[in-house]
Amino acid sequence: MSTHGNDTGTEALRPHAEDAFAHELKALEAADDRPRPARWKLSPWAVATYLQGGTLPDGTVITPKYVGPRRIVEVAVTTLATDRALLLLGVPGTAKTWVSEHLAAAVSGDSTLLVQGTAGTPEEAIRYGWNYARLLAEGPSREALVPSPVMRAMAQGMTARVEELTRIPADVQDTLITVLSEKTLPIPELGQEVQAVRGFNLIATANDRDRGVNELSSALRRRFNTVVLPLPATADAEVDIVARRVGQMGRALDLPAVPEGLEEIRRVVTVFRELRDGVTGDGRTKVKSPSGTLSTAEAISVVTGGLALAAHFGDGVLRPSDVAAGILGAVVRDPAADRIVWQEYLEAVVREREGWKDFYRACREVTA
Ligand SMILES: Nc1ncnc2c1ncn2[C@@H]1O[C@H](COP(=O)(O)OP(=O)(O)O)[C@@H](O)[C@H]1O
Ligand SMILES: [Mg+2]
Repeated sequence: MSTHGNDTGTEALRPHAEDAFAHELKALEAADDRPRPARWKLSPWAVATYLQGGTLPDGTVITPKYVGPRRIVEVAVTTLATDRALLLLGVPGTAKTWVSEHLAAAVSGDSTLLVQGTAGTPEEAIRYGWNYARLLAEGPSREALVPSPVMRAMAQGMTARVEELTRIPADVQDTLITVLSEKTLPIPELGQEVQAVRGFNLIATANDRDRGVNELSSALRRRFNTVVLPLPATADAEVDIVARRVGQMGRALDLPAVPEGLEEIRRVVTVFRELRDGVTGDGRTKVKSPSGTLSTAEAISVVTGGLALAAHFGDGVLRPSDVAAGILGAVVRDPAADRIVWQEYLEAVVREREGWKDFYRACREVTA
């Protein structure tokens, strides 16, 4: 069942977190006897459990959504219960959007009060716009006003989300200062204001690499608690994340199951980590890093793409030839420089590694 007024329900290609994990949220709500902040669906403890996973007394298994330090989740959840907003910061593919969506789903039961930040995001997207037919016919009125997701979240005491905050032009970003410090959104045309009710808060995400594009003003930054999402600390953790997410997405796309593909997943993760870190896993060989981020998120899409190849054109088991082209596409962003980096890595590392012969051959075939 969808609560968002659309009729696609569970057939949605990508259901919202609160729909996809409705059964988990319901079980948590039933098991949760801790105090809940005003208008929160769950206690902070239950929200953290929803994100990190666990088993409830009644046996319901809560799947981990975010795999990472528990403290990060605890600080993020706690921040939402204070008067400061939450800024999730990190390099691309560190699950900022993912965590933001699940936090909003668990805290407010609705992750859709979302503003997507771009260089073209106008003030209206954060404040409000007008239904021009009504505005012309009736003049300015509350009925002619089209509230932004932020305004709706304020009025209803819910969680608003702003994606890619630092891509938004600085003067538009500053619209948020009044919202976050005064907890009010003035409507000068009507001589009115919308005051945030208890339960309102805001989660913004921003990309580390965008720093300098539209840096946050210090006035705005002070309204946020910043939580930095790190890259997975170990290869094992990253393999776990990739396998888990690929499994979830594969089920939605009717792709073959992951277990037989674990070896290939480990290989993709190893290649990405070594190129990212500039050194092989054993610390012995220095390698050059390509221009792309080679994030966990990209590893997930390489493996998902590989599984689709295996399902439709292979024997249903993930093979080196199913992931080679995807890896090449992720590594070689800049056709000249990255290709050299890749070829050096292939010859110096992949070729020499025990048990990697098939993989080396598959990579050579697509790299030629
Ligand atoms: N630590 C992690 N735990 C769980 N999933 C992760 C983790 N890191 C990356 N992912 C996965 O990577 C994918 C992309 O993450 P996303 O939120 O879009 O990244 P960002 O917004 O930081 O660029 C998501 O499917 C997410 O599940
Ligand atoms: Mg994102």
